Amino acid sequence: MTAPVRDASPGLIIREKEPRNLEAPFDWADSYLTPTRRFYIRSHFAAPDVDAAAYRLCVDGAVTKPFSLTYQELRGMPPATRVALLECAGNSRVFLVPQAKGAQWALGAVGNAEWTGVPLASLLERAGVTDDACEVVLEGSDRGTPLEEPVPPGPISYARGLPRAKALRPEVLIAYQMNGRDLPRDHGYPVRAIVPGHYGMASVKWLTRIHAVREPFRGYWQTSDYAYWDRLDGQPVRRALRELRVKCEIARPGIDEALAPNQVYTVYGAAWAGETDVVAIEVTADGGNTWQAAQFLDPAHRYAWRRWTCEWRTPAKAGRYTVLARATAANGHVQPASHDPSYGSYAIHHALPIDVFVDDPGQDPGARQAE
Ligand code: MTE
Repeated sequence: MTAPVRDASPGLIIREKEPRNLEAPFDWADSYLTPTRRFYIRSHFAAPDVDAAAYRLCVDGAVTKPFSLTYQELRGMPPATRVALLECAGNSRVFLVPQAKGAQWALGAVGNAEWTGVPLASLLERAGVTDDACEVVLEGSDRGTPLEEPVPPGPISYARGLPRAKALRPEVLIAYQMNGRDLPRDHGYPVRAIVPGHYGMASVKWLTRIHAVREPFRGYWQTSDYAYWDRLDGQPVRRALRELRVKCEIARPGIDEALAPNQVYTVYGAAWAGETDVVAIEVTADGGNTWQAAQFLDPAHRYAWRRWTCEWRTPAKAGRYTVLARATAANGHVQPASHDPSYGSYAIHHALPIDVFVDDPGQDPGARQAE
């Protein structure tokens, strides 16, 4: 059982060729489930070639009955299927001013898929996770040496610690299928974690070990990368990124799209949040003086995105306009107007400006190009 042949990914935007970091144009976000071939790929190292016939998933650490199981044994356990969105923590980095280091993701390092697997809680219960375990470390089989400082002393495998309470939640899956088919190699074949409600870095691909620990895990992608500055008793402290922030993105109009004046135009997008639901979307094109409510196309379904539309009348006067949309979540959180620098180049969830041109029907289109 070798890994499926790597799919070509026509139309995905290459942010890095190897390891593969590919983004989907966000105007593709027109279906509730993102087709697998249109789902972004974010990998820190080359995708490993895992042989499912030789595969073992090891469950150990702070447990009373450590065990390992084969791919077939995992697939023989009672399955669960859930729709969940993944958003890379660096999605929308290209909107940061000044420009930040790292892959220049625009709007498309996000997708909404259906995942099938076994709840992580079933595996932890079977292993008898001890009361003093505070986190569960999920480890992938991909290895390498990160390039960013501080560079670890040697190659390390991709690993993330998940708080015990979240690890035991029924939505967290050890998945082997995406949209009804075996995971493609770039998305973690044969087995990956899916942690709905957390940024994508928590959903460890090519998963080989589930390790319960008694001390919070301080690995590279927990402290150096995918971390932010919080405050504790007045002191800045580093914390691991976890829950998704409320966010909506505009799929239509596209950046720099030319629009006809004084026409009803359907603004379209998708919105999501972490451990809560998105309850409202508003759109403005006049710098926030007036906000117009959008309508949802999808019902609220925790951990999935909600697509929305807004019938907007374009301005009568030709010129450059900025369209903004902002989402509100059931817990009262609203997308902010600007990025919080404590998060560095991650968790970019402020209302993102989409500049458009309203054309003067009498104007030579070449004149706008020259602006
Ligand atoms: N798991 C492993 N083993 N190695 C990785 O590099 N990247 C993480 C996560 N899981 C990663 C990983 C990040 S940063 C994201 S955003 C998601 O996988 C992306 O999942 P996808 O490539 O299936 O979209």
